[in-house]
Amino acid sequence: MDGNGRWAQARGLPRIEGHRQGAAAVRATVRAARQIGVRVLTLFAFSEQNWRRPPGEIGALMELLLRYVIDERAEILDNDIRLVAIGELGRLPPRVRGALDELCAASAKNRTMTLCLALSYGGREDLVQAARQIAERATRGEIRPDDVSAALLESMLLSRELGDLDLLIRTSGERRISNFLLWPAAYAELYFSEALWPDFGRADLEAAIDDYRGRQRRFGRTAEQVES
Ligand code: FPP
Repeated sequence: MDGNGRWAQARGLPRIEGHRQGAAAVRATVRAARQIGVRVLTLFAFSEQNWRRPPGEIGALMELLLRYVIDERAEILDNDIRLVAIGELGRLPPRVRGALDELCAASAKNRTMTLCLALSYGGREDLVQAARQIAERATRGEIRPDDVSAALLESMLLSRELGDLDLLIRTSGERRISNFLLWPAAYAELYFSEALWPDFGRADLEAAIDDYRGRQRRFGRTAEQVES
């Protein structure tokens, strides 16, 4: 969800105003995704590397997250949305973590859409913690090198429940993955929107999905194989 800072800068506002407007775009996008029929929506709300930002900006982002979890509680529960969070959640302020855990638990049985917030998340860090678990199991003698497979590694990722990523949307004209879901994005279709995140809305989401519908996903096969 890139472009909050530039959105604010273009208006002579502090960066946090861009994040505040970004939080409004989150609300609108979640609602639109649910109505369109998206089954899993993952929002990259705060990366592991975002801890390097100025403390004031980090504090303001944590407050916005807390507000979001509190204010959207009814919307999430009433719309059968399951909230999950991935990342190094232990680094979040206890108040944010507490509210997040509570809503994740309360919505755990919901089935219409999964909304995943990637918080203090990094794709490389996710792979490292999976590798560490494998090493620990090997040290205990539970697995041997031959047992290490794509399926085993995938089963240890924080993102394991989400499945493969079909469509990755990056806003604000940037063309990078920036340590998002590296493993699940192996075959993701990439879509780059020029909209700054605070301006992103239903029409932009629909445009991305329309574009995705026109892609041919071959997963290593030839076009002829896929078409037959
Ligand atoms: C990147 O834009 C955005 C972030 C680091 C934070 C995203 C947070 C929100 C959208 C609001 C809070 C989230 C929720 C789920 C309520 P940037 O600040 O790097 O933009 P720039 O590249 O223009 O400076």
